Amino acid sequence: MDRFKIHGGKKLNGTVQISGAKNAALPAMAAALLTSDPVTLQNIPRVRDIITMAKLLAHMRCVVGSPDLPPSEFTIRAENVSMQEAPYELVKTMRASVLTLGPLVARFGHARVSLPGGCAIGARPVDLHIQALEALGAETKVEHGYVEARAKRLRGATFRFPKITVTGTENILTAAVLAEGETILENSAMEPEVTDLAELLIKMGAKIEGVGTSTLRVQGVDKLHGATHAIIPDRIETGTFLVAGAITGGELLLTNCEPGHLKTVIEKLRSCGVEIKCEGNGKVRVRAGKKLVAADVTTEEYPGFATDMQAQFMALATQAEGVSKVRETIFENRFMHASEMARMGANISIDANLAVVTGPTPLSGAPVTASDLRASAGLVLAALVADNTTTIDRVYHIDRGYERIEEKLTQVGAHIERVTDSR
Ligand code: UD1
Repeated sequence: MDRFKIHGGKKLNGTVQISGAKNAALPAMAAALLTSDPVTLQNIPRVRDIITMAKLLAHMRCVVGSPDLPPSEFTIRAENVSMQEAPYELVKTMRASVLTLGPLVARFGHARVSLPGGCAIGARPVDLHIQALEALGAETKVEHGYVEARAKRLRGATFRFPKITVTGTENILTAAVLAEGETILENSAMEPEVTDLAELLIKMGAKIEGVGTSTLRVQGVDKLHGATHAIIPDRIETGTFLVAGAITGGELLLTNCEPGHLKTVIEKLRSCGVEIKCEGNGKVRVRAGKKLVAADVTTEEYPGFATDMQAQFMALATQAEGVSKVRETIFENRFMHASEMARMGANISIDANLAVVTGPTPLSGAPVTASDLRASAGLVLAALVADNTTTIDRVYHIDRGYERIEEKLTQVGAHIERVTDSR
């Protein structure tokens, strides 16, 4: 199991190229199941979840090929899909495997996908995915840890998500595009990753209106065709590096990003005294400013403050003067990084979904354990300002979603080393 050893206290300076968004690439890969033609995806991040999705598609007998290694471009050919099943072994390592449910049942009339079960950041059920598929006429059965869905052909319907769900919206959108007639999805997620998926589907011949709004209107078509699509930049990686520049008191230029996708995060960081300049052409410059000051944050669905940036913001709050209240409204149990940061000297108290961070406190290097993808990013940021050495265990969490994070940080002056041992 790999660990990171980080020697904190270095100002980060230089340029970081932002990768493609994992959370946009995953539904795009699943959408390739909708056609027998090749679908080529570019700007794919080289992270473990993408490899898991490629394995899952290969398990279904798709041909997944890439001109470069490790891949940043894939062509997926779902011509001879003979296995419409996502097995437990793959789903348990990546919840987003459930994204294959909608496209499989839409094109083949049948899908069997293992239930993701609980995970470190809360129960995270898929009941809304199932409810919405049923509204489109699928018969579903949950048995032996699997959800099975069948429909000769899905029928368009109006469905209002009782709660906003990102992968739920993506799953049902990729089902509705091949359904008979019109589907209206109300209270849909408006995340840029959903919009990116809709744009890919439109290139494949889908008829979708209301893209970027909470009401998606789909006219089902009989068949979709191949397409080539470049995945949007990763807004969470962008936000993480914005905090990295700010927290270490350095100056970073981030390239290949889309600041329009993280307006709320940028505004919040500015209110903490961070200087952020959007320079056009996918470039954003970040500098610490004179002093970091506290700010309150409540996580919300897009365009609100992303829950996936909460742990990173908390790391910043430990270095800001005053009291920052961080309220998590999307997931239960998403403060596990707080106790690890407290072990490094942070002053954080938790009451249900509210964390109160009083800063600034000097952080001191300590052995800590990553509990999920974004929690690990928060711990890396805390370690960058801690004195001495921090060892972060279980970095496989961060490898799921951040491309070469230790290389990118090293390039701008951080002292970070990956330690592989055979424990
Ligand atoms: C996606 C992102 C994840 C991000 C999250 C919220 C991907 C691959 N992952 O996760 O990084 O943190 O959005 O922005 O894109 N819920 C239900 N029933 C359901 C579905 C969801 O109750 O059927 C609840 C969840 O438990 C959670 C809330 O709805 O409390 C939002 O979850 P959702 O938007 O579905 O998160 P994901 O799509 O899993």
